[in-house]
Amino acid sequence: MATRHFLTLLDLTQDELHYLIQRAITIKSNLKAQGPNYTPLPNRTLAMIFEKSSTRTRVSFETAMAQFGGHALFLSPRDTQLGRGEPIGDTARVLAEMVDAVMIRTFSHAGLEEYAAASQVPVINALTDDYHPCQLLADVMTWIELRGRVQDRTAVWIGDGNNMCHSWINAARQFGFKLRVCCPKGYEPRADIVAAAGDQVSILHDPQQAVTDADLVTTDVWASMGQEEEQTKREADFAGFQVTEALLDLTKEDALFLHCLPAHRGEEISTTLLDDPRAVVWQEAGNRLHAQKALIEFLLLGKIS
Ligand code: CP
Ligand code: NVA
Repeated sequence: MATRHFLTLLDLTQDELHYLIQRAITIKSNLKAQGPNYTPLPNRTLAMIFEKSSTRTRVSFETAMAQFGGHALFLSPRDTQLGRGEPIGDTARVLAEMVDAVMIRTFSHAGLEEYAAASQVPVINALTDDYHPCQLLADVMTWIELRGRVQDRTAVWIGDGNNMCHSWINAARQFGFKLRVCCPKGYEPRADIVAAAGDQVSILHDPQQAVTDADLVTTDVWASMGQEEEQTKREADFAGFQVTEALLDLTKEDALFLHCLPAHRGEEISTTLLDDPRAVVWQEAGNRLHAQKALIEFLLLGKIS
């Protein structure tokens, strides 16, 4: 059977994604009740290639493997041969001889696809310039945990049409909710990704209009990793797109606010927004651990009945 990879949310079927969310909720509740006594992957290893910085992704994958009875290896281009020009495909073939799965955080999504095409073991996208699907597993899990279902509900993305936005668009397709993307002109998500979502996704430019009667609001930094030199220009271009408590007041009574973190208080969010009870970002961050455990388990062991 062909090796399964998780490069975008479209690599799994809708049924598989729903299974993963429910499995993550079960894994979480068992961990809370019994401690880390579920060790389905003894002596298995996950290679983690990080070409960009990370706190949550590294800690959640490393903890997931440790609690599962396995081990994770942190690999950086600074101290591996990847940084000295060893071809991606050669690295993929070598690692597949030794480890059970590979997680990659990198710049180019095409580079990730090239790696996966050469890999005999599952490859997980831990963020590229174009997508961040692991974050969406945790985000949808959090929404479902707190509100029961997401189908036919309305989420609003405020800000840059970036990697997180693209994965929210794919999540709208796969989980059946509506997504309003609200961005400054010139910062729209990729047209092909939007078009593929059909009428699940709309593009707006007025935050007040976008959030009215929404079930969930989410945002992200204005300048992503690799765009640091655009920070000043982006601060000017995104003025008026800050998510504040007053903006959330236009949503439905029980609306939630998510942010993948790290957050820049005073830029994309008001300085106090994360203290608002509608902001559930710490639970969201913690769910990275449980959602990725469900993903690793699925890729290595299949569905657990
Ligand atoms: N949200 C997220 O991926 O965080 P890190 O960059 O800290 O991994
Ligand atoms: N859009 C952000 C997400 C960080 C988790 C970035 O790519 O830097």
